[in-house]
Amino acid sequence: MHHGPGGGGPHGEDELLGNVYDARLIRRLLGLLRPYALQLALGILVLLAVTAFELVLPYITKEAIDRHITVSGRKVAGALAINGALPLAGDTALVDVAQLDDAGRDRMRALQRAGAVGKTPYYYVAAAELARRPRVDSLLRANAGAVQAYGSAVLIEHARLKTLDKGDLRLLRERDLRGIHRFGLAFLGLLAVSFVLNFCQMMLVQYVGQHFMHGMRVAIFAKLQRLDMAYFDRNPVGRLVTRATNDVDAVNEAFTSVFTSLFRNVLLIAALAAMMLGLSLRLSLAAFSMIPLIVAWTVFFRIRARDIYRKIRVRLARLNAYLQENFSGIRVIKIFRREAENVRRFGAINDDYQRASLQEVLVMSFFRPLVEIISSCGLALIVYYGGGGVVRSAVSLGVLVAFITYLRMFFHPIQQLTESYTVLQSAMASSERIFQLLDEPVRIAGPERPAAAPAARGQIEFRNVHFEYLPGEPVLKDVSFTVAPGEKVAFVGATGSGKTTIISLIARLYDIQRGEILLDGVDIRALDLAQLRSRLGVVMQDVFLFAGDVKGNIRLNTGLSDEQVRRVAGQVHADTVIGRFPRGYDEEVKERGVTLSAGERQLLSFARALAFDPPILVLDEATANIDSATEKLIQDALGTLMKGRTSIVIAHRLSTIKSVDRIYVIHKGEIRERGSHQELLAKEGLYYRLYRLQQGALADG
Ligand SMILES: Nc1ncnc2c1ncn2[C@@H]1O[C@H](COP(=O)(O)OP(=O)(O)O)[C@@H](O)[C@H]1O
Ligand SMILES: [Mg+2]
Repeated sequence: MHHGPGGGGPHGEDELLGNVYDARLIRRLLGLLRPYALQLALGILVLLAVTAFELVLPYITKEAIDRHITVSGRKVAGALAINGALPLAGDTALVDVAQLDDAGRDRMRALQRAGAVGKTPYYYVAAAELARRPRVDSLLRANAGAVQAYGSAVLIEHARLKTLDKGDLRLLRERDLRGIHRFGLAFLGLLAVSFVLNFCQMMLVQYVGQHFMHGMRVAIFAKLQRLDMAYFDRNPVGRLVTRATNDVDAVNEAFTSVFTSLFRNVLLIAALAAMMLGLSLRLSLAAFSMIPLIVAWTVFFRIRARDIYRKIRVRLARLNAYLQENFSGIRVIKIFRREAENVRRFGAINDDYQRASLQEVLVMSFFRPLVEIISSCGLALIVYYGGGGVVRSAVSLGVLVAFITYLRMFFHPIQQLTESYTVLQSAMASSERIFQLLDEPVRIAGPERPAAAPAARGQIEFRNVHFEYLPGEPVLKDVSFTVAPGEKVAFVGATGSGKTTIISLIARLYDIQRGEILLDGVDIRALDLAQLRSRLGVVMQDVFLFAGDVKGNIRLNTGLSDEQVRRVAGQVHADTVIGRFPRGYDEEVKERGVTLSAGERQLLSFARALAFDPPILVLDEATANIDSATEKLIQDALGTLMKGRTSIVIAHRLSTIKSVDRIYVIHKGEIRERGSHQELLAKEGLYYRLYRLQQGALADG
């Protein structure tokens, strides 16, 4: 399948996957981030804070539940030795599992198995507290039937709490209500702080990311401006555009995902694991048993998804390339009535793309829910074990609630971590390609110490020039000629004989393999590149107009005033074209000037060359076929342009050819004949035949 130029985007080299562990690349990326070290350090600090706050929230819930909501103890025989137990009578003590340490809970488990733990849950107020709250004390005395008073605490069955009248209950639990209130406020406060911190963290990372991308795009663009023509011959436009846009985006995505997701998730997983272990070793082990399953499943899913993504990208690129090619070539398509055939082809490409997309949907809708199910199983396991523990008084309700909250937070980052891997992988590939472009040697540049520019006389000499675009396919073979200052010469020859190539070589768009090209006796490779090009006024075969107005297109970077632009345009008759535009010199050029005819564009480019006022004029005539009125205008404009300048013209028109000092006939990359019009005609060689052919064509109409 063929792709048009510019559409060749993400194929071939673009599909290479990077190695995430490429230390060289990572070092280089980090080097680029050095200017932002401060922001990043700040970002990481804030990230630490955000994570800490998020972890504190469930802990607050736990504290609120255990200290103020449940407040529940059981009578346990033989529990006096347990740290935190309140002695009641004999060897019986009141044990609130929320107040126990690990050792205490282990003891409780043993006592539970031995049947020493009472079934009734009691609300209790410790004696020390009663002393501080005389009203509660008198309240409890008034309800002597419902309460059991001991030296260390007063107990009341949880079930009996609701028999108290509302006012009494409120009084009894006043401290709990205040506590819940306090924890609620703390929760809200922390939520607000973590919102602000989250915002700051996001802004910091995105600020760095956006600046980083901006810098990279500038670097890429600047580099592309300096690269030589051969590089652009090798690389389709679409691919270069991808470098400056998609690839930069991919690197940025990886950067932000490292700083928001990767760091955060690693941190979160470690911290969550620590919190869970701290809450309950047993529940943690039960929960962690799900990790291998989740990881295995997600990795498997990632690999499947990656292959499909790649397929989708390739097919989308193909679709884009086909669209681009079709719209650029819409004229040809219409003229050759290819519409139906192209619609059919588009249908096939479109089908391919759709199939790949549906595969993605299939994988997504199958694997994603499965991961959810596995984590829900983990949750169920905890509810089962933990719920049992709460019932048996081996675990407090607050611990279970906090644990479940942590667990819900736990599986998600594990899943995200495996996703980060894919993001990093494609970012590595992108940055590899970006660096490759940035490292591309600039093959055509002025020397470090350029030769002093010769006085601008305007002599051009080719000495035994040998040139090939592609190795082994010579385009110019041993070409030698000299154009003296002020001389006007023409090159003629069949299409593909190498005429345009000669112009490109004079402007040093390509470097030659053998021989020398001299400007006023100095090898052009010894000259400063800008110096060299400032001596040349080049009019190309297809005139390129930039977006902007007409006067800007003539002025380019010469700094001429509007008045001067008008005068120059008048001298080469471009004003006759411009006069037809509704807004004249201020007319915006649409779509690179496609609405103008070739002749009109040529006249504009003459004005551009004259504005530049170079000592040497190099001109590739657009075409021989121009109506006689325009032909006269162009001929006259050419006369103005060439006056007082060394001129090298690739000529198609007899009128041009006749007036020059010397004509070179180029054939298959070699100069075969040279001389004046009359001399060459007298020879009856190649030129004679070309001339007769053209005259015949003109005579025919
Ligand atoms: N950028 C390029 N890369 C490879 N080959 C090229 C390139 N430009 C031109 N050629 C080849 O070099 C030869 C001379 O081209 P050119 O100088 O444009 O001919 P002319 O202007 O006389 O028609 C042709 O065979 C053409 O196919
Ligand atoms: Mg040409």
